[in-house]
Amino acid sequence: MEAEFDRADLVRTALEARGRAYTPYSHYTVGAALLTAEGDIYQGGNIENASYGATNCAERTAIFKAVSEGRRRFRAIAIAGGMEGQEPVDYAYPCGICRQVMKEFAGEDFRIIVAKSTADYKVYILEELLPHGFGGNSIQ
Ligand code: THU
Repeated sequence: MEAEFDRADLVRTALEARGRAYTPYSHYTVGAALLTAEGDIYQGGNIENASYGATNCAERTAIFKAVSEGRRRFRAIAIAGGMEGQEPVDYAYPCGICRQVMKEFAGEDFRIIVAKSTADYKVYILEELLPHGFGGNSIQ
């Protein structure tokens, strides 16, 4: 069974992380909030680069921060994105690379929350966003 957690609070934390995104090129800011099995939250924003391909998405920023601090089991990630200085207009779905990185660490009960606000969000499992994904099991 899925463990309970405060989804609106996780979305609020993702919206807060948006404020620290570094986006001088696209001006599109994304915030992510990653809830660990231990109950703490890692925030991430997108970090752009003049060499565009070196940009890191918000979701991977949060995941890499957490994994580098020793966390590997996650309950959920909330994601919110929109133009700098504006509230999100659309749901910000994770890019393919971020879905693949989630695949590495997501357990069966992992939830992906795409949010416009604390009151307007959708919840997915990874299988819905990355069906037939390639994971560690594939290379055993
Ligand atoms: N971006 C994210 O942070 N997460 C995604 O899943 C998709 C895209 C960022 C990367 C770049 O800084 C900006 O959004 C525009 O692509």
